[in-house]
Amino acid sequence: MATNRRDFIKRAAMALAAIPVMSSPLGLLAQETQNNSKMKKIMIIDGGPRKNMNTAAMLEKVAEGARSAGAEVKVVRLYDLNYKGCISCLACKIKGRASNVCKFKDALTPVLEEIAQADGLVLGSPIYFGDVTGQMRTFLERLAFPWLSYNDYSMTAPKKMPVLLIETMNGLPDRNNSNGYGSMEYCIQASLGHPEHLIAYNTYQVRNYDNFELAGFSKEAKQQWRDEHWEQDLQKAFDAGKRMAEQE
Ligand SMILES: Cc1cc2nc3c(=O)[nH]c(=O)nc-3n(C[C@H](O)[C@H](O)[C@H](O)COP(=O)(O)O)c2cc1C
Repeated sequence: MATNRRDFIKRAAMALAAIPVMSSPLGLLAQETQNNSKMKKIMIIDGGPRKNMNTAAMLEKVAEGARSAGAEVKVVRLYDLNYKGCISCLACKIKGRASNVCKFKDALTPVLEEIAQADGLVLGSPIYFGDVTGQMRTFLERLAFPWLSYNDYSMTAPKKMPVLLIETMNGLPDRNNSNGYGSMEYCIQASLGHPEHLIAYNTYQVRNYDNFELAGFSKEAKQQWRDEHWEQDLQKAFDAGKRMAEQE
C-alpha cells in the first residue's frame, strides 16, 4: 500500500513536470513577465501644439513602427501639460544628494522619471522662428540640467538610450532657417548618445491655402512637394521607430 502511494506521488510529480510551462496559468504568467521584461519602452515627446497635423503625424508613424517591432510606446503631448522650465532651484545639485532627474515637482515630473527608465527617446517639434517650440525648449531645460555636473562639467543621464530628433518646417533642404534642437542637441548627445535626425520639409501649414492670407506660398508648389515627399517622410518615421525598437 505504502509503495503504491509512493508510486502514485512519483507518477503525479512526473506528470506535472511534463506539463509544458505555457499550459499552466502560472506558467503563462511567468512567460508574460519574461516577455514584458524584454519589451522595450519608447517615450515619444510631442512638442507641437496641433494634434492632427505634421509633427503629430510623424510621431504617430514612429509609434506605429516601434509598436510593430513589439515595443511599448508612450506619447506625451507637451501642450497638454502644465509645467515650467528649469527654475534654477539647484535641488538636483545639493551636496551629497545630487540627482540626474529633475527634483522640481509639477506635471512634467512623472514624464522625466519615465524617460530616465526608458529604452528610447523620440522628440518631435515644429520649427518656430528657427528653433524648436518654446514648450520643447522648456521641457529640455528640465531634462538636461540635472545631467550636467558643475563639479567637472560632465554630462550623465540615468541611462544611455537611442534618440530620434524630428523637426517639421516650411523650409526646404537647401533653404531653411532651422537651428533644430540647437545647444540642447549637444547635451542629448553627450548624455544619451548620438541622435538620429528626421526632418519633414515644406509641410502643409494649413490644409487649404485658399482660406488664408498665405500668398507668400505657392499652393501648387506646396502640393507638388507634398505629393513627392510626404508619404516618404511618414515611411521614414515608421522605419525609424521600428529600428529604434529593434536596436540591441
Ligand atoms: C509661430 C510659427 C513660427 C514658424 N516659424 C517657422 C520658421 O522659422 N521656419 C520654418 O521653416 N517654418 C516655420 N513655421 C512653420 C512650421 O514649422 C511648419 O508649418 C510645421 O510643419 C508645423 O507643424 P505642425 O503642423 O505639427 O503644427 C512656423 C509656424 C508657426 C506657427
